[in-house]
Amino acid sequence: MPLFPAVDPIPLPAPIWLLKLLHIVTLALHFVAVEMLLGGLLLAVLLSLFRGSPLSLVTARALARRLTVVMTFVINLAVPPLLFAQVLYGRALYTSSVLIGVYWISIVGILMLAYWLLYQFQSRLEAGRSAWWVGLIAWLLAGSVARLLSTNMTLMLRPEVWRDMYSASAMGAYLPMGDPTLTPRWLLMMAGGLFIGGLWLVYLAGRSTFTAEEKRFVAGLGGKVAVAFGLVYMFAGLWAASVQPGAVKLGLAHHWLYRYAGFAGDGWLILVAAAVLVGAVAGFGKVSAAWLGWIGVSIAVLTEIAFTVYRDGVRDLTLLSKGYDVWDRAVVTNWSVVGLFLVLFVAGLGVLGWLVSVVARAQKTMEGAA
Ligand code: HEM
Repeated sequence: MPLFPAVDPIPLPAPIWLLKLLHIVTLALHFVAVEMLLGGLLLAVLLSLFRGSPLSLVTARALARRLTVVMTFVINLAVPPLLFAQVLYGRALYTSSVLIGVYWISIVGILMLAYWLLYQFQSRLEAGRSAWWVGLIAWLLAGSVARLLSTNMTLMLRPEVWRDMYSASAMGAYLPMGDPTLTPRWLLMMAGGLFIGGLWLVYLAGRSTFTAEEKRFVAGLGGKVAVAFGLVYMFAGLWAASVQPGAVKLGLAHHWLYRYAGFAGDGWLILVAAAVLVGAVAGFGKVSAAWLGWIGVSIAVLTEIAFTVYRDGVRDLTLLSKGYDVWDRAVVTNWSVVGLFLVLFVAGLGVLGWLVSVVARAQKTMEGAA
């Protein structure tokens, strides 16, 4: 009996390489936003809990003010990769989603609660009230959404356990256990949060809305966090790669793209190392220049792209070892629709750029102002 449900007889409306390219680009952007949320929120919670000086509070407030906006990016940049993933991997992804259906659908509620708590966290900080515990609950909720996503993204790669899971609970109320790749993969994302969160602070230190003293504090803190968690992120990446099945590791090592993009190859490790260097300059040299922040941001985006490419390789090679070839689909390209989509996609990016420029030109208030 085949492990995967039968393929949809309707052919794909666009070339597979184009769908994969759009999937990887949009997913990498989702990951940048996710890491900013997970890391920025935890840093803001810790800063508001251990207020060493008024500078901690100013930094916590600066992060909290931005986190509600970051959440909109997390969600909006999540929808496109979800759609592309469903088109490319529907037979695996729909099955795993149904199997953990109760938890999968609960993400919507958890997300709404976390979003509301982010606003509460911000307003309590602004009002000078105790806020850390509100932020901590929001962080735990966001971390549990991450855990559920890791659970589904690894379950979709294990068709061999689906039948037993369905026998155990046809209600979708049974969470899979015993996958050695799940926890390293989830912890890799969680460690990446503090790494990217540190780089985010290095970027913020270059903003003119901070005083010189605040800039030094923000750059020093962000840089040190980026250094420490850059190293943790590297080890977590190597760990997540080491627990992959032998056939997948072999395939990754011999594929031209994944070899250079991945944890066991060069690209990702070199990028994280470069970011650690940026963190060291900011953290120990207390350099708060805008150019340094921009270098950090650019490296962070490239790191997440390399990560996403490698992760895509893990998925394709794992599925291939079980008989699912993502490239083996009938394609009948509808070029007029593809063209219209690309025009709208570029126009959308233009509108986004315009929005960012409006925000950049808006009148600024100092971060320390009440
Ligand atoms: C607090 C909010 C969120 C967090 C913390 C979060 C976190 C994550 C994490 C950690 C992963 C990687 C899982 C892994 O592969 O191990 C992931 C992937 C993904 N997320 Fe999110 N996410 C959030 C919101 C959302 C929302 C609202 C959606 C859908 C609309 C979404 C859609 C996706 C999809 C589709 C993937 C995987 C795509 C693929 O592998 O092709 N996420 N997310």
